[in-house]
Amino acid sequence: MDKLVSLCKRRGFVFQSSEIYGGLGSVWDYGPLGVELKKNVKDRWWKAMVHARDDIEGLDAAILMHPRVWEASGHVAGFTDPLVDCKTCKARFRADKLQDASCPQKPSKHPGEHSACALTEPRMFNLMFKTFMGPVEEQAAVVYLRPETAQGIYVNYQNVLNASRQKVPFGIAQVGKAFRNEITPGNFIFRTREFEQMEMQFFVKPGTDEEWFERWREWRMAWHHAIGLAPNRLRWHQHGPGELAHYAKAAYDIEYEFPFGWNEIEGIHNRSDYDLGRHQEYSGKKLEYFDQAANERYLPYIVETSAGADRVTLTLLVDAYREEEVEGETRVILGFHPSVAPIKAAVLPLVKKDGMPELAERLYHDLKKRFPCFYDDSGAIGRRYRRMDEAGTPYCCTIDGETGKDGTVTVRDRDAMTQVRVHQDQLGAWIAERLA
Ligand code: GAP
Repeated sequence: MDKLVSLCKRRGFVFQSSEIYGGLGSVWDYGPLGVELKKNVKDRWWKAMVHARDDIEGLDAAILMHPRVWEASGHVAGFTDPLVDCKTCKARFRADKLQDASCPQKPSKHPGEHSACALTEPRMFNLMFKTFMGPVEEQAAVVYLRPETAQGIYVNYQNVLNASRQKVPFGIAQVGKAFRNEITPGNFIFRTREFEQMEMQFFVKPGTDEEWFERWREWRMAWHHAIGLAPNRLRWHQHGPGELAHYAKAAYDIEYEFPFGWNEIEGIHNRSDYDLGRHQEYSGKKLEYFDQAANERYLPYIVETSAGADRVTLTLLVDAYREEEVEGETRVILGFHPSVAPIKAAVLPLVKKDGMPELAERLYHDLKKRFPCFYDDSGAIGRRYRRMDEAGTPYCCTIDGETGKDGTVTVRDRDAMTQVRVHQDQLGAWIAERLA
């Protein structure tokens, strides 16, 4: 992880938020390469969930919502973690995760195990960030930064249904920011206080929910394979009765084997009619669906798929990172699937003379119209290849002496380091074909 964090900073994937002021705890900024990588994650998700399907509509609901939403959802009463303080070192820990935490005193032990530790009794701490709507900071003006995007979908379910030509079963998908005042965030961008979720809520007839739940489990695991994650580092974790969230009838996590252990990257939940039932009760608005074909009314059940865009981005970085020995030197590679790689191709004139830079620049501007490219004419060609390996660029296109004669360029494959010659007129299509 240390190597990856330092590569992320050096190459412009991820920076600490407000770094020049000493940083802000567990808040991170995405640099030029990181923003492309994360955008590709979100685009691939949107393509699979919305564009490729006829039964899912998109939505972009606001972060701020009516405070009653969070009473109905159960977050005001129940979105809490048990917190303990240490009176000696003033650190705070999650009471249920003491075994994963370390006491700041030396020698390092778990909180409570050091002779000087003085832990308080656990108290419940609500993870929602509060702010005030309007100029007066009073209880009546409290609003929350949403801790999940899902509620924006539930409160818009009838709007979307009426505005689209959908019938149950159908889904609503949304990508957006969520905020949680986590007590023990950490592991780089794995657990942060501000993050992005990619959530889809699928509305189904009660009684068909278990079938849909199984289908969604299968489709979501297939998506993680399709973006290039190693299948042997992915597994299912079924929530036992003690682990189930207050809304869930059944839940499975997709877990990835990180350097810090197996951890959740996406949750698939059978939320029953809990959410629509609660919003119906709290808003006083009927949220039943009228099934014309069967001439019956019911409150749909919901199957939810909920992935973290930042967590999937971290997973891609961890999964892609490797080091190889090449001619006595260490080559660092981010072996991203081409569809998520931030830069798809680099254009490199072999030398800065003999008309090569002019040919290369023309080719670069041509390719840049189709996908993100990078132009580099500084330093030895081997060093330029290494820089692109570290950025995860799948193809390096070198303009050399032959290009002026027959119009072909050398295309080097990042992973195999093999080279083929492709005519410059066909290069855009040749690369585009390999990006799917
Ligand atoms: N709507 C259901 C829901 O929010 P969750 O299991 O709490 O379920 C879903 O969160 C996903 O959101 C997680 O699998 C994870 O990828 C992401 N996530 C949750 N908390 C996060 C945090 N503090 N930092 C980064 N990602 C987080």
